[in-house]
Amino acid sequence: MKKLSNSVQSRAPLFDTLLSHAKRDVVSFHCPGHKNGRSVDKELKDYTGENVFKFDLTVFDEVDSLHDPVGPINKAQELMAQTYGVEHSLFLVNGTSVGNMAMFLAACNAEDSIIISRNSHKSVMAGIIMSGVWPIWIQPKIDQNLDLIFNSTYDQIKDALDRYPETKAVFITSPTYSGVVTELGKIVDMCHRRGKAVLVDEAHGSHLHFNKQFPESAVDAGADLCVQSTHKTLSAMSQGSVLHFNSKLIDFNRVKKIVSMLQTTSPNYLILATLDLARRQAFLHGEENFDRVIKIAEWGRSCINDNIHLMKCFTRQEIRKFGFDLDVTKLTVNVTKTGLSGYEIENILVKEYNIQLDYADLFNLVAIMGEGSAKSDVEAFVKALENISKKYRGKQKNWILRIPSLATEMVMRPRDVFLSNNTKKVSLKKAIGHVAAQALTPYPPGIPVVIPGERITSEICDYLMDMSSKDIRVSGQETEKLKTVKVFTN
Ligand SMILES: Cc1ncc(COP(=O)(O)O)c(C=O)c1O
Repeated sequence: MKKLSNSVQSRAPLFDTLLSHAKRDVVSFHCPGHKNGRSVDKELKDYTGENVFKFDLTVFDEVDSLHDPVGPINKAQELMAQTYGVEHSLFLVNGTSVGNMAMFLAACNAEDSIIISRNSHKSVMAGIIMSGVWPIWIQPKIDQNLDLIFNSTYDQIKDALDRYPETKAVFITSPTYSGVVTELGKIVDMCHRRGKAVLVDEAHGSHLHFNKQFPESAVDAGADLCVQSTHKTLSAMSQGSVLHFNSKLIDFNRVKKIVSMLQTTSPNYLILATLDLARRQAFLHGEENFDRVIKIAEWGRSCINDNIHLMKCFTRQEIRKFGFDLDVTKLTVNVTKTGLSGYEIENILVKEYNIQLDYADLFNLVAIMGEGSAKSDVEAFVKALENISKKYRGKQKNWILRIPSLATEMVMRPRDVFLSNNTKKVSLKKAIGHVAAQALTPYPPGIPVVIPGERITSEICDYLMDMSSKDIRVSGQETEKLKTVKVFTN
């Protein structure tokens, strides 16, 4: 990490401005209507206090404008960029979701093609539709022992670039939800040698830059554009994300314009202030804070692996054998041997132990740790899992994580199908050969199995019918059970 000045990074220009404004109790004739919290519901204020609402302001000179920043927001964004060692950073108030959409629109023109791993967040589909690109899908690799879906590898991306040299950019998700990180440095070098921009959804990796023990972050690997959910692992409030720009291939003015097009003109200043403060905290204390979090995460991982023989939490060494790396602060616990699903254990954890996870599926629980995590949290989690493994035992199930072949034929651009009126519903059985006009995403595996514009194969139909018969929830289904799929009609 480049040596930056502590005295400069100790500043929080946006927060300081907002705090000074709040303390002056300025008479408000501006939005929002609650007027410095005065009319906010009493029950809420009795719990939170009134001061927090004094940060809920609107755009005026003193507090600056997110869309054309020249004051404290500009300074805060500059400090963010310095911290991460990138050319520019833009604050986002609609999470990484809006950042993903912006990356597509900024890096590609309509009709361009872009290489994307199929295991991407749903906002990626929104970006594809909005930008009018042709997606070139990479089939994610899976491991049926760990019940895990991996991100794209260097070899897969190289192979796709060899086959589709006309592609404009490569879109990568790293880390995955489970903290698995791909070989970004190598991938970025290879793409740049070929003049291709690299866009990274690093929603789960805003903290990686701040501790040497972590795998390399996308910003350090030299990604052209990278978006991070500062709210997921650092201390920003929900919705607070950052889009980093570091590119000779993409025009920054276009990025700024697109981000502005996609964001509200009434950003929440409290969210913006927490981005400023999260950066300051991570810069000043990230190394020590994450030393602590890594230590407690590894302690929890060993307790689970040593003491709970029906559960398994994969290690960094194991993930490295697959050619990936791991952010160890994600505890992914495989529960298939208990005979209970991840969903069932997630429910037990809430009802009996007052513990809420971020994610669970049939096979795994995913416990996400962040800068605020404490050892007592991990102790409670491990103890609860120990108790659950003694108290509950389900029938051994024959669940196997599998996905059909998803490197499918794109017949139309997703945008054209999405905006078309020429669609009809057909029964799943009769959908083979049709061009899909909707996305269908079963959970698990949580990745889209059908995408608008692609030819539906018999393998995909069989897969969906199997999912439906097992009562697996399919996002996008329009009836109680998945029976039909929307297709394009000429
Ligand atoms: C990989 C990935 N990308 C993007 C997002 C969206 O991020 P946000 O919630 O900040 O909009 C998520 C959310 O869970 C995610 O897991």
